[in-house]
Amino acid sequence: MSNILCIGAGYVGGSTMAVIAQRCPQHRITVVDVNAERIAAWQSDRLPIYEPGLDEIVFSVRDRNLFFSTEVERRIAEAEIIFVSVNTPTKTFGRGAGKAADLQYWEKTARQIVQYADGPKIVVEKSTLPVRTAEAMERILSSGRRGVEFDVVSNPEFLAEGTAVADMQNPDRVLIGGHDTPSGRRAVETIAEIYAHWVPRERIITANLWSAELSKLVANAFLAQRVSSINAVSALCERTEADVTEVARAIGLDRRIGPEFLRAGIGFGGSCFKKDILNMVYLCEHYGLPEVAGYWEQVVRMNEYQQFRFVANMLSSMFNTVSGKRIALFGAAFKAHTNDTRESPALAVCRALLSERAEIAITDPHALENARADLGDEAAKVRFEPDPYAAAAGAHAVALLTDWPQYAELDYEAIFDRMVEPPFLFDGRNLLDHQRLFEIGFNVFPLGKPPLVHQP
Ligand code: UDX
Ligand code: ADP
Repeated sequence: MSNILCIGAGYVGGSTMAVIAQRCPQHRITVVDVNAERIAAWQSDRLPIYEPGLDEIVFSVRDRNLFFSTEVERRIAEAEIIFVSVNTPTKTFGRGAGKAADLQYWEKTARQIVQYADGPKIVVEKSTLPVRTAEAMERILSSGRRGVEFDVVSNPEFLAEGTAVADMQNPDRVLIGGHDTPSGRRAVETIAEIYAHWVPRERIITANLWSAELSKLVANAFLAQRVSSINAVSALCERTEADVTEVARAIGLDRRIGPEFLRAGIGFGGSCFKKDILNMVYLCEHYGLPEVAGYWEQVVRMNEYQQFRFVANMLSSMFNTVSGKRIALFGAAFKAHTNDTRESPALAVCRALLSERAEIAITDPHALENARADLGDEAAKVRFEPDPYAAAAGAHAVALLTDWPQYAELDYEAIFDRMVEPPFLFDGRNLLDHQRLFEIGFNVFPLGKPPLVHQP
């Protein structure tokens, strides 16, 4: 039996440890966080994150071999393996502001580990970190006076929110990076053995520490780049009467390109993509590679442009003003099947429309609480409405911003009847049956396809 500790009870720490606890009943796993409210939620019937399939797992292993606690220090002393999944947001101040990762939480954690560890430990980097962070970690960890041995291992997270449990149960690969020394190799093998309880060995790959750290940034940069690429194409489609869905299908059938991640929309959000790319941009600048930095930075710029374009299109279609008009926003989460609104393009659209003085009613099946918190002062100007039909009542326009499948199943005739004439529908995710909506009477504006507009 091993005592495993995870520091940071967020989306990553919570989901990852729940699945490890389920698959490895012989290990005792504790997840700690400085945020007592969050820990209390993990111990309650209402978990702090919405992730399909997670409740069931947590309820079945909690207090058996999965524990949640705020006693960071005591738990450090007990653990042999410490996963660190604290937040590493983009720096908002000083050198590298807006791009570099803010490592203050990580560093604080490393210092806590040194202070309270009294025996050898494996420290696993789970949060996304800039390349060569492990080096800094090792320096901090080896600064302890007690001469405790630490092995630092990088085990980047590839799970996506909304499918975190499925991704953990059946990962494409598990990547573990460590030093090529006897104790480094032993540490990597110890972590590999945990995953080998349910992941086939050939999918557990090892690499050197720096490759593992960099792979995480690069994987997210490539994924985000695909989204920005298809979104750039959607703009061109709108000018040329091509249809972006048809283009995506045609190119996706080329095995070298593949069909995934080619859905045009209002842009990518979430806690990782923007942060990780900007992190990479900062690293490239730091290492004297301005051309490489500029190449990747453009992926983020294109994402911002797509959101701007969507709102500009709404404005010009609605006779160049939305001031005083009620607009119903369907979706606040950055993607379907999550309650996470971090960097959500839906909230960016919401803010832009507020600055045009539109009256906003926003609906979402799971993310309204987080949306309200994220909107801060602006939340006072927004109506948060769990029922999409009520949100659409009296609206001039509906804008679909999150790809919740239930939004495709709504009764749009009933929605049409509740709206102000002529009703506009902007489908920011190309989720709906546009022809049918047009037949109901909507003026329909999909993304990257010709609009369907009723002539007066
Ligand atoms: C991502 C990575 O997928 C995951 O491997 C990593 O560990 C964390 O970052 P996540 O941000 O949770 O996961 O979700 P993801 O499914 O990648 O979607 C990111 C954003 O891209 C969402 O806003 C989504 O709506 C958007 N997207 C995705 C598109 O607009 N079009 C697509 O075709 C795919
Ligand atoms: P992610 O999506 O990567 O899981 P989150 O922000 O949801 O990120 O979670 C990170 C968690 O780490 C937060 O709940 C935060 O309170 C916690 N955290 C940050 N610093 C520390 C620390 N020194 N000790 C324990 N927990 C920490």
